[in-house]
Amino acid sequence: AKITFIEADGKEHQVEAQEGQSVMQAAMDNLVPGIVAECGGFASCATCHGYVEEAWLTKVPAPDAAEEGMISCAYHVRPNSRLTCQIKVSPALDGLVVRLPASQT
Ligand code: FES
Repeated sequence: AKITFIEADGKEHQVEAQEGQSVMQAAMDNLVPGIVAECGGFASCATCHGYVEEAWLTKVPAPDAAEEGMISCAYHVRPNSRLTCQIKVSPALDGLVVRLPASQT
């Protein structure tokens, strides 16, 4: 699935993500700046925070309680904030657009 990450300054990175991996992992594999992912994908650091583009909010599975709790620890939180390590890549997400916060701290 193709995923586009857009940095806070507008720079776009389109990557090819593998089904089953997380959106965070796809960003890391492709050296997308702006995702730190300190905890390695266990919903316990909130440094893989990104904003799911409005049009995709209904297509991405809703966050679970652990993710909801950790998002509240992220910086620059918005209503469409998600932890990218908790979004699993699937064919349904082909074309997904995730904007990145200006910083993860
Ligand atoms: Fe740590 Fe996502 S990588 S919460």
